Amino acid sequence: MKDKILILLKENRDGFISGEKISDKFGVSRSAIWKYMNALKEEGYEIESIPRKGYRLVSSPDILTYGEVEEYLGTKIIGRKIYYFDTIDSTNIKAKELAYKEDEGTLVIAEEQTLGRGRLGRTWISPKKKGIWMSIILKPSIDPMKVAKITQIGAAAIALALEDLGIEAFIKWPNDIVMNGKKVCGILTEMSCELNMINYVIMGVGINVNLDSEDFQGEVSKVGTSLKIETGEKINRKELLGLFLNRFEELYMPFIEKDDFSSTLKVCREKSILIGKEVKLIRGSEEKKCKVVGLNGDGELEVDYGNGVVENVLSGEVSVRGLYGYV
Ligand code: BTN
Repeated sequence: MKDKILILLKENRDGFISGEKISDKFGVSRSAIWKYMNALKEEGYEIESIPRKGYRLVSSPDILTYGEVEEYLGTKIIGRKIYYFDTIDSTNIKAKELAYKEDEGTLVIAEEQTLGRGRLGRTWISPKKKGIWMSIILKPSIDPMKVAKITQIGAAAIALALEDLGIEAFIKWPNDIVMNGKKVCGILTEMSCELNMINYVIMGVGINVNLDSEDFQGEVSKVGTSLKIETGEKINRKELLGLFLNRFEELYMPFIEKDDFSSTLKVCREKSILIGKEVKLIRGSEEKKCKVVGLNGDGELEVDYGNGVVENVLSGEVSVRGLYGYV
């Protein structure tokens, strides 16, 4: 009911809507409406109320609830249900708890994570209301071997969403988005499967949107940056989230329905920061120098170890680093 009242207030932004009208429309008492208004105010909505005139929405808070993101969404299934938390340990952990009972496309979003996790056991800093920290529950009927491609669909969708906002960013295979040689976004995809059947996939996405330089301490400051730092402007998180989910669905549906990965591949190739570069491939304690020559049709990295023979690298447990730094 609260969400319905919010939609009505948004539709009537330019004027007042009377308590009587709301109560007739939804069949709830005037005192119940008053309670919902107070609950919205507690969430940060500024609502003006004048006796005999009614209620008017003055401003909305910067939060990533369904009520706030909905106006930017053009999707059918992705993001049509959002579990929203002010603070949580990790959205990936929560999404795994919910995965069996929830439908494909359900999102878990938090304003802050206290135990945000990155790839290869790293931690992920997730300060309050400064980023987009979320996990998408997916249930694709595909071969578990193909799940790594979902991370690339995610990376391509982020790059396209940023392009929609006029921000140029690059993809550092397989799961990082970079600007000016530093990381603005990472993806952590986890799955539960049987031999040849997927129970669920959790795609966790962390976008460093409005973090300031002080948010990056120690080692992280050498590698991490935010969209705000790189563009010099505060970014609208709701809009970016909507754009990302729209782009993700656009690339994800053809992949699960028709095994069509072509649009993702095109974006990943065009926006690759690695193709043409000399890099180090790191597997555990082993490091190997090579030149990245391309991405093959399955989205695997094609590298040349210096002998002219091109080999394919699967994302799995590999880290890629530039010869002298992060890229
Ligand atoms: C990486 O680049 O190492 C992956 C980072 C993934 C971070 C996101 S933030 C939301 C979701 N919840 C987590 O604990 N991690 C992912």
